Amino acid sequence: MAYLIGVDVGTTGAKTLLVDEKGQKIASALVEYPLATPRPKWSEQNPEDWVQATFQTIRQVLTQSGVDPAEVKGIGLSGQMHGLVLLDAEKRVLRPAILWNDVRTTEQCRQITEQVGRKTLIAETCNPALEGFTAPKILWVRQHEPEVYQKARWVLLPKDYVRYRLTGEIAMEVSDAAGTLLFNVRERRWSSVVLERLEIPKEWMPPVYESVDICGRITSQVAKATGLQAGTPVVGGGADNACSAVGNGIVYEGRVSASLGTSGVVLAHTDSVLVDPGLRAHTFCHAVPNKWYTMGVMLSAGGAFRWFRDVLGEAEIAEARRQGRDPYELLTERAARAPVGSEGLIFLPYLTGERTPHADANARAVYFGLTLRHNKDAIVRATMEGITYGMRDSLEIIRELGVQVHAITATGGGARSSLWRQIQADVYNVPVRTISQEEGPAFGAAILAGVGAGVFESCEAAADALVHYSSETRPDPERVAIYDAYYQVYRALYPALKPQFDAVSELVERFHSGA
Ligand code: XUL
Repeated sequence: MAYLIGVDVGTTGAKTLLVDEKGQKIASALVEYPLATPRPKWSEQNPEDWVQATFQTIRQVLTQSGVDPAEVKGIGLSGQMHGLVLLDAEKRVLRPAILWNDVRTTEQCRQITEQVGRKTLIAETCNPALEGFTAPKILWVRQHEPEVYQKARWVLLPKDYVRYRLTGEIAMEVSDAAGTLLFNVRERRWSSVVLERLEIPKEWMPPVYESVDICGRITSQVAKATGLQAGTPVVGGGADNACSAVGNGIVYEGRVSASLGTSGVVLAHTDSVLVDPGLRAHTFCHAVPNKWYTMGVMLSAGGAFRWFRDVLGEAEIAEARRQGRDPYELLTERAARAPVGSEGLIFLPYLTGERTPHADANARAVYFGLTLRHNKDAIVRATMEGITYGMRDSLEIIRELGVQVHAITATGGGARSSLWRQIQADVYNVPVRTISQEEGPAFGAAILAGVGAGVFESCEAAADALVHYSSETRPDPERVAIYDAYYQVYRALYPALKPQFDAVSELVERFHSGA
């Protein structure tokens, strides 16, 4: 039997998954690590934490499963996108990694747009300059930490630093390179013009592979530390969103997923490059060779529901503890008692600003339309509905690009609740499916390893064989009509409130920034 390993170097921890050639999970392990926010807007991690967590979880899955390491035919790496890891000429880490959710670089984004030119930037990278992406972080280091910048020799992304430590190879693959804003997404190569205009040396950029290509092998030192066999191939792997898509079967034109995790991601596979003219959605290289995907990213989706649970769900948390249940179950039972559309109560989920469709750090969450009749049931339901309207915003962009959406694969915490699946089907007006095995990006990374090692013929063949649908929720025409009407109001609220969001942001800066 052949076995495969997928590792996901995530934001909260590293997860390693060991599967057999039928895609069956044999073992998995997770080790968490901290995230530092030394200043407002900053978000950093210590790359050594990723490496140690990866080593430890690989060791754990091998020990737990008792699988012969010689039967592990390949390893795939997945990871949080966009994070900047700078190495010196001796390949030592120069400063903590600056992560995807760090938003200190608004000024550098402006500079990039000016220096590269908006048209060239979009023609080359298919995306606008956003704080989360890698390029503005490099400029920030050049401007604020010149002593660090002077020593820099390599630019890596989180999983690619882990790759270096596993294999000794400096390498990147197309799906993560696409999120740097320094990559020609159409032609799947570094963008000389963007690098030149930003005066970033091209030789700092690693060689780039397709995600299924083998670009390193486990060193004998790592073999000793992890229990793996020296020489085990490591494939390019992919960005977490690209790997999740592979693992969810989003490998054909027209397949779309909606993931309700902390953030909300609506992602469509495309056979050609589709760029949203409004630049509200991102266009990146897929981990499937020579394919792409377009996705909308909501910053607070499941995260907004968690906020509700933590801040307003004290009673449900206590009751759930007494009953030995999950507080989310009690909250969704409440939501189920409220009417569809929550009698006009509409929630805008912008608790951490927003990316898609309003790239706006100043946007704020709002409950709109409260009346004396609204009880907690309605407020919970409105929260779930508002998050789903936000997901529909991304879906509408994908539809506007001409993608024919016949069904959606729902994943993440939001897919586990039957009520939320129904709300999604009714708000999106398409059937919503779930898949039987949901292991996130690590599963997709293991599939990529299987393709690279010759266990599977292609990503498509692997998805056909391994991804099975376990449920389908169909939209109900009456509820669709209600949601459609409320969605129009939802869409109108952000533009109406925009000046007040900016005003509040300024006031908070003035009165509370020292808080
Ligand atoms: C995508 C993005 C996030 C991270 C999370 O653009 O910033 O989804 O990949 O890990």
